[in-house]
Amino acid sequence: MRYTEHLIELDGLTKGFGKQEVLNGLDLRLPPGVHALLGPNGAGKTTLVNILSTLTSPDSGAARVLGLDVRRDKRELQGLISLTGQYAAVDGQLSGIENLLMMGRLFGLSRRAAAARAADLLDRFDLAKAAGRRVGTYSGGMRRKLDIAVSLIAHPELIFLDEPTTGLDTRSRRALWEEITALAAGGTSIFLTTQYLEEADVLAERVLVLNGGRIVADGTPSQLKENVGGSTIQVHDGHGRVIEEIPTRGSAADVSRRLAALAAARPDVQVTVRRPTLDEVFLQLTGKKAA
Ligand SMILES: Nc1ncnc2c1ncn2[C@@H]1O[C@H](COP(=O)(O)OP(=O)(O)OP(=O)(O)O)[C@@H](O)[C@H]1O
Ligand SMILES: [Mg+2]
Repeated sequence: MRYTEHLIELDGLTKGFGKQEVLNGLDLRLPPGVHALLGPNGAGKTTLVNILSTLTSPDSGAARVLGLDVRRDKRELQGLISLTGQYAAVDGQLSGIENLLMMGRLFGLSRRAAAARAADLLDRFDLAKAAGRRVGTYSGGMRRKLDIAVSLIAHPELIFLDEPTTGLDTRSRRALWEEITALAAGGTSIFLTTQYLEEADVLAERVLVLNGGRIVADGTPSQLKENVGGSTIQVHDGHGRVIEEIPTRGSAADVSRRLAALAAARPDVQVTVRRPTLDEVFLQLTGKKAA
């Protein structure tokens, strides 16, 4: 990376709306890579993404992205990042390809480079057939994919994706995951928010959980799972269906004590022991239901 060892640096970052404190003094150092921000509805994920992508100003504290200050170096930073917001921003009057070409030209690509990149992206997001159609006629998922394709047209160094896969079908979601993985392998950093814990688990090197205005957890998916501890014993019927889940504290002693009790009562049932899921971690940390 060009500027600094840190992708994102926050020092005492605060933001509120009226009397409501949304971000309550965030401190953070993130290296380049793929990072996921989780949190219940209204936690401030979009607010943080908007500050980092220069759309919103913080109230106090500092935020540096790619070594650049989000307020002072706004212009320069805008040339290096892209943002796909929570709601689709493509122009419904233009066709898919026109949207891509317009953004490509806006970001300074030559006509020829923009056309080549647009064709490639339309192909990768399975939109080639619909490329000439007005976006107003696209389905919600198609719009979403085009939105993401548009944000990728200029090869940004850092991509912000605010709930990129909400509303996408399973196939499109997987396609986007592959795209993100490929971008990351090519050295692009990604900061995404999501309500899908599985998505964070699959993609992110580091997961941050925002709740009550603070970052309440920060680590790799497996670190977060370890902190919650507590493996679960799953009891299966003869057809492989899980008929009961027995929570444990995760220690050998506790698991074997519970297994011994189960074996005494029902010696023939099948069991597996599984680690906590990121969903369970999330519920424990936020005390709210995961979407
Ligand atoms: N422009 C604004 N004016 C007033 N309040 C706002 C504004 N933007 C956000 N808020 C409030 O700030 C809080 C955080 O909102 P934000 O959109 O950042 O949450 P989020 O974590 O992205 O939620 P979701 O998961 O629903 O997308 C909410 O209570 C919201 O109502
Ligand atoms: Mg949001």
